[in-house]
Amino acid sequence: MRSTTAAIDVAGLVKTFGSHRALDGIDLCVPAGGVVAVLGPNGAGKTTLVRVLSTLLRADEGQVRVLGVDVARDPTTVRSLIAVTGQHASVDEALTGRENLTVFARLLGLSRSATRVRAAELLEEFSLTDAAHRPVRTYSGGMRRRLDIAASLIARPPLVFLDEPTTGLDPRTRQEMWETVRALTAHGTTVLLTTQYLEEADQLASRICVVDRGRIVADDTPDGLKRSLGGLTLELAVRRRTDGPRMCSLLADVADGDVITAPDGRRLTAPVRDLSLLHTVQVRAGAAGVELDEIGIRRPTLDEVFFHLTGPSGTERAVSA
Ligand SMILES: Nc1ncnc2c1ncn2[C@@H]1O[C@H](COP(=O)(O)OP(=O)(O)OP(=O)(O)O)[C@@H](O)[C@H]1O
Ligand SMILES: [Mg+2]
Repeated sequence: MRSTTAAIDVAGLVKTFGSHRALDGIDLCVPAGGVVAVLGPNGAGKTTLVRVLSTLLRADEGQVRVLGVDVARDPTTVRSLIAVTGQHASVDEALTGRENLTVFARLLGLSRSATRVRAAELLEEFSLTDAAHRPVRTYSGGMRRRLDIAASLIARPPLVFLDEPTTGLDPRTRQEMWETVRALTAHGTTVLLTTQYLEEADQLASRICVVDRGRIVADDTPDGLKRSLGGLTLELAVRRRTDGPRMCSLLADVADGDVITAPDGRRLTAPVRDLSLLHTVQVRAGAAGVELDEIGIRRPTLDEVFFHLTGPSGTERAVSA
């Protein structure tokens, strides 16, 4: 089997559009199985990477192998092993859900009976059986996306690329899409998805590659990324507002930087180096007669990590693009 072959193996990948280096030396090795998220702001190069990996664009430099097959030498084989769902749905509005799947399956060369069986399976798997007879123009955004992904899975490909599968979906539909992605990997499929949402990457992926200006600026687990920013934050709330200043000076003795008091005068946060300070602060507060409503230590959020890595310029570039 292919278990020892990397699902994606990229070295020194460069793709330019005119003088613009959309991909500026990407190295990436993704083992088979699970979800890897490519996270980046608008214009970072996510779609370009997906298009090169899925043979839709040719690289200018570098080696790109997908499931052990070189995309430049043998794009036809690569295409037979992958599915791609683009940023914009490719299903036909005028046809019903079932008809769309039937068209795709027949194009792939499935027999009439195999097509019927596969379409029914996919409609069921993507919770579209009840809507199967309705034209796609009557579908919600989430249903369209699901149908789009279902269509790309007709041939049961071992590697699936999803380019921003949840952009523009409401929170509930997004959750449904997450379930769909999880279900895909449960069958052993490898999924590479691009996203601008940290929460999505955190929820779905065991590994996150942060892309900015055509380069991978971080490649780690969600927890690893949070740790890479270094410190921890201690947060607490005093029960009595009048205890705020005293607690502030107690915290200042152990903190690794400035203590911040929220406008309500009860919530305090401070950077700390060590989890054991949670206990120390509780003991000192108790000894000083300060009652606490809450206390905890957290890692930085992925939002904090993302802004730290890519800076605010990502948004600015997108606006000017
Ligand atoms: N066909 C093209 N011709 C010229 N420039 C292009 C082309 N495709 C992409 N680019 C440029 O390459 C850069 C990367 O684009 P890409 O679409 O890969 O970004 P992205 O990360 O997918 O962004 P988004 O989050 O907006 O989808 C951008 O600056 C874009 O303008
Ligand atoms: Mg894109």
